[in-house]
Amino acid sequence: MNFNDKMKFYAEYTQKKLKEYNCPDSDTEKQKTLIDAMNYSLEAGGKRIRPVLVYSFCEACGGDYKKATAPACAIEMIHTFSLIHDDLPAMDNDDFRRGKPSCHKKFGEAEAILAGDALALLPFEIISGDENLSADEKVKIISVLSKASGKSGMVGGQMIDMENERRSDVDEDNLINMYRGKTGALIMASCVMGCICAGADEFHIKKAEEYAYKLGLAFQIIDDILDVTSTSDILGKPVGSDEQENKTTFVTLYGVEKAKQIALKITNQALEMLENFENNEFLKELTDMLLKRSF
Ligand code: IPE
Ligand code: IPE
Ligand code: MG
Ligand code: MG
Ligand code: MG
Repeated sequence: MNFNDKMKFYAEYTQKKLKEYNCPDSDTEKQKTLIDAMNYSLEAGGKRIRPVLVYSFCEACGGDYKKATAPACAIEMIHTFSLIHDDLPAMDNDDFRRGKPSCHKKFGEAEAILAGDALALLPFEIISGDENLSADEKVKIISVLSKASGKSGMVGGQMIDMENERRSDVDEDNLINMYRGKTGALIMASCVMGCICAGADEFHIKKAEEYAYKLGLAFQIIDDILDVTSTSDILGKPVGSDEQENKTTFVTLYGVEKAKQIALKITNQALEMLENFENNEFLKELTDMLLKRSF
């Protein structure tokens, strides 16, 4: 399978499994709105980069991607939860996401908060109940996923992002720390969970972490750039949102051109880390595609 076919295959497989995992419980006619709101944001798609990283690190370490299904869908749920809450009026106040009205525009604010909450917790139900993972693997995966999602990871990074809106002294160190949390942590968890599913050793897990740290930074810098250079039609979310919310980004610190150069340099450092993996062809193409992406 060539690169594009494989991306498509992983995305379609993830879409199908997400729907299966987020099915209604038997007694939950009353939860219809909740499940509809969760599915609305999940099904809207997106690039599915995090599940793809889980599968492809599993394969790069010699494993079968199918074993990584639960962690791959789990990380996409946590990511979708982060986007639903990120768009709320109290946060970035964005009305458009993944090419559709944001969850709170479609279902209301309270409903969107609850859909996000449910998407933050369903992953732990899915992983703990998965039949393909051993008890030891489950504990390791839950440990990685919970840490990456919470105060030391995504939520912590989002808090720094919110606090920075009211500051005028945000520097590069602060931004790197924030990106490492709000964006890097889930990307790192994706890569590490893929390794765990393949039974990888400590050396490979360490190299996956180093790769993910670089990829996460480059990914968020490109996201900052696209916020000023792209269109909302292409992105599927509003452009100019960062300026409107008074965010300091790599673009406001350095300008678009220098930010692009920094993203290129960090991407090359990420690519070097991939030399530690045998089946790394797909991951190399993915890394390159993420640097050059237009959405
Ligand atoms: C957007 O993530 C939020 C960031 C962390 C920059 P993605 O660009 O992966 O969004 P989707 O999943 O494709 O919608
Ligand atoms: C997102 O950062 C990080 C999240 C945890 C959602 P942004 O606020 O820049 O993401 P977009 O641009 O809205 O997708
Ligand atoms: Mg934000
Ligand atoms: Mg945002
Ligand atoms: Mg952004």
